[in-house]
Amino acid sequence: MANPNVVVVGATGAVGRVFLRILEQRHFPVNRLRLCASPRSIGKRIKVNGDELPLEATTPEIFDDADFAFISASTAVSRELVPVAAQRGAFVIDDSSAYRMDPKVPLVVPEINPEDLEWHRNISAIPNCSTTQMVMALYPLHKANPIKRIIVDTYQAVSGTGTLAMEELREQSRSLLDGGAPKVAVYPHRIAFNVMPHIEPFMEDGYTREEQKMLYETRKIMHAPDIAVSATCVRVPVYLSHSEAVHVEFTEPMEPEEARDLMAAFPGVIVVDDPKKNQYPLAIDAADKDEVFVGRIRKDSSCANGIAMWVVSDNLRKGAATNAIQIAEEVVKRELLRPRG
Ligand SMILES: NC(=O)c1ccc[n+]([C@@H]2O[C@H](COP(=O)([O-])OP(=O)(O)OC[C@H]3O[C@@H](n4cnc5c(N)ncnc54)[C@H](OP(=O)(O)O)[C@@H]3O)[C@@H](O)[C@H]2O)c1
Repeated sequence: MANPNVVVVGATGAVGRVFLRILEQRHFPVNRLRLCASPRSIGKRIKVNGDELPLEATTPEIFDDADFAFISASTAVSRELVPVAAQRGAFVIDDSSAYRMDPKVPLVVPEINPEDLEWHRNISAIPNCSTTQMVMALYPLHKANPIKRIIVDTYQAVSGTGTLAMEELREQSRSLLDGGAPKVAVYPHRIAFNVMPHIEPFMEDGYTREEQKMLYETRKIMHAPDIAVSATCVRVPVYLSHSEAVHVEFTEPMEPEEARDLMAAFPGVIVVDDPKKNQYPLAIDAADKDEVFVGRIRKDSSCANGIAMWVVSDNLRKGAATNAIQIAEEVVKRELLRPRG
């Protein structure tokens, strides 16, 4: 087929800007690229592949000649735009949580369940960033020895909330170091020099919505409806890369060496695990990389069939933009784009 026309909604955002960089880095073939953002940004320009492209209004008509629409704005914007773009013929890759649990929408991590794209209806969702890196590490283990239960504590970077949160951490840190009183706007509490066990609203059962996503999305991606997941999602004053302490219970015993080998052989996972030499994954090392890094792999001394580990990945890349572009690459490879008209 001819190179696809692509529309990116949310091109000025934390994910959108990284997305445009990765489009260049992966040489994703594009015929015509159009960029959209909120009305605030109309008229501004962004440089992509050496061209200064204007930010355009997000009208329904903009999707008329689009083959792919990457929508990376907010859940509310996705609820409105995803059906419009899909109905006008674009294959929509949606970064928000709006359609992730819709049974008619595949939720895809291309290394794990690319075949789910075969039943698409012009829409695929990407998972939440904290889910993606966890399932990337755990799926090769689950295939060898089915997982019964996961306990995960996350340490999530502020870029997971977008550009305003990154700015807030910067401003609060500056203000505190200068002896001032920091303004609190994005989060319910100050995030600079703080740790907050609260990401997204609290639900009836006491978990937050972010924590529930880690349960339901993991089951859908891994086709494992019985896996139990108990998550505590925590925001930390880090700009980029989420870290996770993951404790897994398998059906049968699993040796750390076997877990290490299975993960090291899985595409997109890198094992960094030599604690005596101070080598384990770090947020600062994972930043700007596409892989998921795993270390501190050890027997869980509290559980007969348990393994514990530390998982780190760049939330804006594999947690969002890279995964979205990989889905588009898979759609092209499998010739799943429906003929326009
Ligand atoms: N950040 C992550 O790690 C991550 C990971 C996975 C998924 N996601 C999802 O990706 C999406 C974007 O997140 P983000 O972190 O990039 O947020 P962000 O930095 O706040 O960016 C939001 C983007 O949406 C645009 N926008 C806002 N209202 C719009 C409208 N009415 N029409 C068109 N565009 C509009 C903004 O444009 P202006 O600049 O003009 O305001 C901006 O480009 C969210 O759905 C989020 O849940 C994020």
